[in-house]
Amino acid sequence: MQINQAVNKAINKQIGMEFGAYLQYLTISTHFDVEGLSELAEFFKLQAEDERDHAERFINHVVAFNGKLEIPTIEAPSSEVKSVEEAAQLSLDWEMKVTEEINALLKLSVDQGDHITENFLSWFLDEQLEELSTMNKLLKVARRAGDNELAVEEFLVRQRGKQSDATNSGA
Ligand SMILES: [Fe+2]
Ligand SMILES: [Fe+2]
Repeated sequence: MQINQAVNKAINKQIGMEFGAYLQYLTISTHFDVEGLSELAEFFKLQAEDERDHAERFINHVVAFNGKLEIPTIEAPSSEVKSVEEAAQLSLDWEMKVTEEINALLKLSVDQGDHITENFLSWFLDEQLEELSTMNKLLKVARRAGDNELAVEEFLVRQRGKQSDATNSGA
């Protein structure tokens, strides 16, 4: 059995989007690193790594399903990040676009009767909701912080603390 060709083609396009997101987040991370905002740099570096993981998940799906991998030209990332708010807005816009793409991919899989890919995509729906929520929160905090970028850094330190507490307590 082989992956449906239309689905295969759409997944290849999605792999390009995921690598594009990887480059975009890496660029934002580097920008904050240069500015000495290490928490923001780390936050966006982790986002970048997530995107690379997404691309690899799609690649593995194509391989497992006997498809053909064709990675498209990756769009150059925007390097015009002037503030935390701008970075958060850019990221939220990007995640909304990706969510629409995943929805379209899911619809295509259903229309083509490809239930294996349909099932595979359910993980991405959860992941997109989480990323939309994360970026929404960051945007709100960035707006409240205004020019005080260190307040966003403090917020990220607290968030990290909460996450490691949850991990340590086994939650
Ligand atoms: Fe992604
Ligand atoms: Fe994402």
